[in-house]
Amino acid sequence: MRFLSVWFLLAMIPAVALAEVPEVPQVPNHQEIPDLPFRPLPKQVPIPKDNPQTDAKIDLGRELYFDPRLSFTGKVSCNSCHHLDQGGEDGQAVSVGALGKAGRRSAPTLWNVGFETAYFWDGRANSIEDVVKEHVLDETVMAIPAYPTLTGRLQSITAYRERFAAAFGHEKVAIDDVAKALASFVRTLVTPDSPFDRYLQGDQASLSEEAVKGYALFNEKGCAACHFWTLLAGPVPGLSFKPGQPFYELFPTVRGTPWEERLDILADEGAYDWTGREDYRHMWRVPTLRNIELTAPYFHNGSVKTLPEAVQVMSETQFGIELSEDEIAAIVDFLKTQTGVRPAMTPPEPLR
Ligand code: HEC
Ligand code: HEC
Repeated sequence: MRFLSVWFLLAMIPAVALAEVPEVPQVPNHQEIPDLPFRPLPKQVPIPKDNPQTDAKIDLGRELYFDPRLSFTGKVSCNSCHHLDQGGEDGQAVSVGALGKAGRRSAPTLWNVGFETAYFWDGRANSIEDVVKEHVLDETVMAIPAYPTLTGRLQSITAYRERFAAAFGHEKVAIDDVAKALASFVRTLVTPDSPFDRYLQGDQASLSEEAVKGYALFNEKGCAACHFWTLLAGPVPGLSFKPGQPFYELFPTVRGTPWEERLDILADEGAYDWTGREDYRHMWRVPTLRNIELTAPYFHNGSVKTLPEAVQVMSETQFGIELSEDEIAAIVDFLKTQTGVRPAMTPPEPLR
């Protein structure tokens, strides 16, 4: 019974938000929805058929990930903005790329990103491989002028030539192979065994009383209408959504709150920017809440510094309700149970 209101909201919200949008599927129909809208995080992400995991690719991907030579100036590596010692992001409101130029969005965590079906805050990329290829040329990220600048640079390093040959069977370094190796490594970044996962698997003691209260509020108030399933990010994976299909929601859903101006929420138009579709204006992919306590600041523009404030903003902008301080504190306690076990990450020795 407790979840009834959640499923009611779940049925209502996307139906309003996504009316007349053929490419993005509606939330799965009710036959498919199990009683409990959450799933423990699997230990492995789904692997695309055109880029099977191999040790050689993963090892090469790890080298590339930590290597600042992937950026034009040699100053920035993937790890500079998606710091694996920390929450898989950079702790900045918006990230600053190789040329010292800031982008307009906050770096998302890469922990568990392989469970997503579409990438970036606005869902514009279909695969991690596509993200890498966009990032390489983006002047606010790696700022490489053209792919041959990067592939030529890697080709000139003997140990890279050998690693690429081992992973792909040919010595010529191709940008698609750079993207494949990096994506293979990124797909290993999984943080299972959070207290919430253990709770879902039957270990009642893994959540404190306060966190259980927060879990109930999270469901009753309707947060779970958007933040559910494996990533607390909507019906992915395993519930109808396929690669390339983002689960979008409006942010803000309730218009006219003071947060709009205070956080400058409307400046970035979200999925409208790349689709040009009126009905996608201010639509955003529902982000994961896994490891959320590690990934401040929050929201696409990093405008909120603390988790309690992010919860307050969500309740006011998504339902127009004000939560009490106690309710916010309980929900925050619940959100802290989303922190999983991160494998240790030691940057490898640079290849010569
Ligand atoms: C200068 C900072 C910066 C660097 C360096 C950087 N990224 Fe990103 N990354 C970002 C930002 C910012 C976004 C979100 C952009 C957006 O949503 O429009 C992002 C998004 C992503 C995403 C999508 C995440 C999601 O939740 O959908 C992946 C995957 C990713 N980056 C991987 C990488 C890899 C691999 C590298 C190294 C080749 C890298 N990034 C280097 C800043 C950076
Ligand atoms: C109508 C769908 C919807 C509902 C309901 C909703 N959220 Fe969200 N949530 C989103 C979207 C979309 C974003 C991304 C907003 C952005 O930054 O563009 C988001 C972002 C967040 C973030 C920040 C994530 C990050 O990485 O920065 C937190 C934390 C969060 N929500 C928690 C909650 C809580 C707690 C509730 C209930 C009080 C809730 N949400 C209700 C859709 C929703």
